[in-house]
Amino acid sequence: MHFDILTLFPAMFAGPLDESIIKRARERGLISIDIHNIRDYSTDRHHTTDDYPFGGGRGMVMKPEPIFATVEAVLAEHAAPPPDWPRQRAYVPPGSAVVLLTPQGRLLTQGVAGELSQMQHLILVCGRYEGVDERVRLHLATHEISIGDYVLTGGELPAMVLLDCVTRLVPGVLPSETPVEESHYAGLLEYPQYTRPAEFLGWSVPEILLSGHHAAVARWRRCQSLLRTLLRRPELLERADLTAKDQRQLERLRDALENGQTPCE
Ligand SMILES: C[S@@+](CC[C@H](N)C(=O)[O-])C[C@H]1O[C@@H](n2cnc3c(N)ncnc32)[C@H](O)[C@@H]1O
Repeated sequence: MHFDILTLFPAMFAGPLDESIIKRARERGLISIDIHNIRDYSTDRHHTTDDYPFGGGRGMVMKPEPIFATVEAVLAEHAAPPPDWPRQRAYVPPGSAVVLLTPQGRLLTQGVAGELSQMQHLILVCGRYEGVDERVRLHLATHEISIGDYVLTGGELPAMVLLDCVTRLVPGVLPSETPVEESHYAGLLEYPQYTRPAEFLGWSVPEILLSGHHAAVARWRRCQSLLRTLLRRPELLERADLTAKDQRQLERLRDALENGQTPCE
């Protein structure tokens, strides 16, 4: 999968994309990343990339021309633009997406990351200041993504978050036995994790995890996963992949909690 990141602050990406799993995925050719400075595509003498908002108001708005020009240059590497581009939307080829990072976009969830991981090419557009000219949203972006209901100073951190969680889903990036039980993969939160030492400052690891009894450990983990989700994010249960056995277990957990008992022991 290839990522093109469009930004006014390319230096922000040095570091986070050069460590650990992302670094190894790049070295192994599973993903590739190019960072583009939008300012390089501004054609006026001062390389202007923002201007005052029409209608007044505070702050600056990112101009459309340099953003369109950067996306055009990036896409031209994949296919020759038709003469009437950008009016010809179909020029964004199947398998490619132009993703505008915006707090007004669709919330990034594990499911959305799964959808995006099916693409071969993601062009991530990072806004700054008061945001980008609306024509970028209307006539260039194929997707608008928000990483949460809060406002950041720019789209660079959201782009890194998106790249990280999509990269984890690219085949071969993680060992094949990973996910499914990880939080949000199947709609539940993950069970508690412990490692050595078995006792630390007088706090012990649950005995079942030391028992070597794989089926009992799996039952305990599933119970803990259901319990955590019930206590912390009950709304997730409405959309989670639950078996009839899980549903019965949830009933037992609710009863146990109501009666002040400790469930999953
Ligand atoms: C200060 S924000 C602009 C917010 C805009 N005035 C609004 O109210 O929707 C500047 C840029 O940061 C990025 N950004 C801020 N919060 C974000 C979020 N929660 N998710 C994705 N991008 C975000 C966007 O690229 C945005 O254009």
